[in-house]
Amino acid sequence: MSQPITAFANHLPVRIRFGEGVADTLNDVVREAGDTRAFVMLDEGIEQFNPAAAALVGQLTNDAGLETTFFHKPAGEPSIEIVDDAIATLAASGAGVVVAIGGGSVIDTAKAARLCAELGVDFRGFLASDRTYPTPSRSLIALPTSAGTGSEVSGGAVISDLQNNTKSGIANPSLRPQYALVDPRLTYSMPPSMTANTGIDALAQAIAGMVAKVRTPIGDAIALEAIRMMGRSLARATKDGSDAAARADMACGSTMAGLTMNISDCTAEHSLGQAIGGVKHVPHGLTIGLVLAETLEREAAHVPDQLERVADALGVPQDGTSDGSRCVRAIRQILADLRFPVLRDVGVTEDELDLLTDLALQDFFVTMSPVAWTRDEVHAAFRAAYDLETR
Ligand SMILES: NC(=O)c1ccc[n+]([C@@H]2O[C@H](COP(=O)([O-])OP(=O)(O)OC[C@H]3O[C@@H](n4cnc5c(N)ncnc54)[C@H](O)[C@@H]3O)[C@@H](O)[C@H]2O)c1
Repeated sequence: MSQPITAFANHLPVRIRFGEGVADTLNDVVREAGDTRAFVMLDEGIEQFNPAAAALVGQLTNDAGLETTFFHKPAGEPSIEIVDDAIATLAASGAGVVVAIGGGSVIDTAKAARLCAELGVDFRGFLASDRTYPTPSRSLIALPTSAGTGSEVSGGAVISDLQNNTKSGIANPSLRPQYALVDPRLTYSMPPSMTANTGIDALAQAIAGMVAKVRTPIGDAIALEAIRMMGRSLARATKDGSDAAARADMACGSTMAGLTMNISDCTAEHSLGQAIGGVKHVPHGLTIGLVLAETLEREAAHVPDQLERVADALGVPQDGTSDGSRCVRAIRQILADLRFPVLRDVGVTEDELDLLTDLALQDFFVTMSPVAWTRDEVHAAFRAAYDLETR
């Protein structure tokens, strides 16, 4: 007999516009957001590697009715120092609208800078404060150029502290962008490895949303459709970056995974992954894929029915099992199809497994599992990932 649904509350007020060409509406959306002065954050050098984003820069620059201040974020995931530079530039610009054109790193930097500019503090000052999150006076318009983090619809931002090798997340509904313009064309320029890394991150988020103890039926519904779309398209988009249907599936699926993550949450794969990222400074999505199968293997013992639903959404035929292992095998197959790296490839050594275990256990997401992870279980998941020599 089924259990009564646990009470829940969901509130995700981001205006989402999806489709090829929606980025072209950016200038109008800036005006709609209430100001003609825009602070635009993007990746340094984006004009060289992303023609669709370069066209957007031209579109903003050539609009005589807009006053645009560009902030070119240096390469790498966001650090406290980069956020502080962005706060100062935003405050000096007088801009009433913030635009973020980039992957999760750019969008997260913009979220953190907007928050701190509102409060008049630098990022360490914010972390040391009682952490209030005022309703922002400036709208944020996010245009994702990767199909991964879902940051364009999420109330989270992840900022690295390079002094102590940790990534710290801040989260609050008021961090969310007001607008997400999700245009698959902005993602076409992603090279294969980045398509695979960011896509695995999105797929992992959607699956985590089905596992977390705070999951809801609304989150499940969005997650299952996101998993269906990304399961059929991740390998295709990685093999042929000009496959429009696959790129659209990944762009839409990753935004939906972001919604799922906000309705539900991420789980242990993100804590183990972020521990690797804190120590090895390799791309976020890569770290998640390195431990995804191993963490799901453990979760299968606790939420087999949910993982069976994931396996169905991935289109895996029934094979007589009902313990969630079909899902784990399917994820291993996807990782093999992507020729995904293994833990040793990012330079993790056996004597670092203890440190990684400690870092993972200090993270929040691991607490979202329906059954608390023990230290031995986290260590065993890292060990299993470490023992893998190839996919
Ligand atoms: N806020 C959230 O909800 C959330 C969720 C998950 C992860 N994150 C964070 O997001 C960050 C990762 O973001 P990401 O995976 O989108 O990658 P990213 O933003 O870090 O980008 C990675 C690299 O790819 C380049 N790039 C971006 N778009 C490109 C394109 N279309 N073509 C070619 N190159 C492109 C960037 O310039 C950068 O050098 C991490 O810091 C992670 O912690 C945030």
